[in-house]
Amino acid sequence: MMNKNQPIGVFDSGIGGLTVLKHLRKMMPNERFLYLGDTARVPYGNKSKETIRLYAQQCAGFLMAKNVKLIVVACNTVSANALDEVQDFSSVPVVGMIAPAARGALQESSNGRIGIIGTRATIGSNAYQDALRIFHTMVPTPHSQLHVTAQSCPLFVPLAEEGWQHHQAAALIAQEYLKPMIHDKVDTLIMGCTHYPLLHNLLSTTLPNVTLIDCGEYAAKISLEILTQSNNVTTTILPTHIEHTEYFITDTTPNFSVIAEEFLGYHVPQPQRVIIEPNDALPISTDIHSSEFRYG
Ligand code: DGL
Repeated sequence: MMNKNQPIGVFDSGIGGLTVLKHLRKMMPNERFLYLGDTARVPYGNKSKETIRLYAQQCAGFLMAKNVKLIVVACNTVSANALDEVQDFSSVPVVGMIAPAARGALQESSNGRIGIIGTRATIGSNAYQDALRIFHTMVPTPHSQLHVTAQSCPLFVPLAEEGWQHHQAAALIAQEYLKPMIHDKVDTLIMGCTHYPLLHNLLSTTLPNVTLIDCGEYAAKISLEILTQSNNVTTTILPTHIEHTEYFITDTTPNFSVIAEEFLGYHVPQPQRVIIEPNDALPISTDIHSSEFRYG
């Protein structure tokens, strides 16, 4: 049974999902959140679908055991490869990044030429490409044609974590990765990875006049819609000095709070280290069907 005053669970492969948490907290300032970063096993973006699905199930299991009322899969790599696994495993609504961002991009674009950037596992899954094509037939858009350009940008994650977005090496890398976007004249780009909003200036300098879609913003809107429709918005008014979020990580990250403060822009308490038990008995589903659209 869902209870209005239960927290919302958010998980990511590491600290990048804090860019999503930031939007969730802004949209729902009275909700409490549990944030789980699987820092022991990050990055997910270069792992196999089977491994990502197993890790995703374990992260969701951790949050379910903590009695959350909604799970937000902040990690794009998990959203692209394992959202159905998390939905099947959870007895509460699950929001991923793909459907909200794809719908947002279709509404923002004027010419129907949309770009997607993400990790190798996200781009290789075709989840964004498929979602854009499906929603293009369902949602009224200002354009009759759709052209999708996808590019994996694995070097962007370490650049963001190093805080190198103003470094000239970052500019060169961005120019190389984003060439196909310029060639295909995209007018809208989905930043399909938790870390990319931290590279906003770099991306907008490389692609001037292109609208950048921040997945967290669109996922936060959908999350609030789901809680509102099911009458599960909290009734508590939290004083601003009360910490709204409990942070959990799977490996000690000595500078977690420092990086987290850079990501979020406010003070973050020390996270608790937790162990997510590997559960070899859990079968890894290979029946990959997209149920992302359930909460789209
Ligand atoms: N959180 C991942 C994502 O959004 C990026 C980092 C990783 O590769 O695990 O795709």
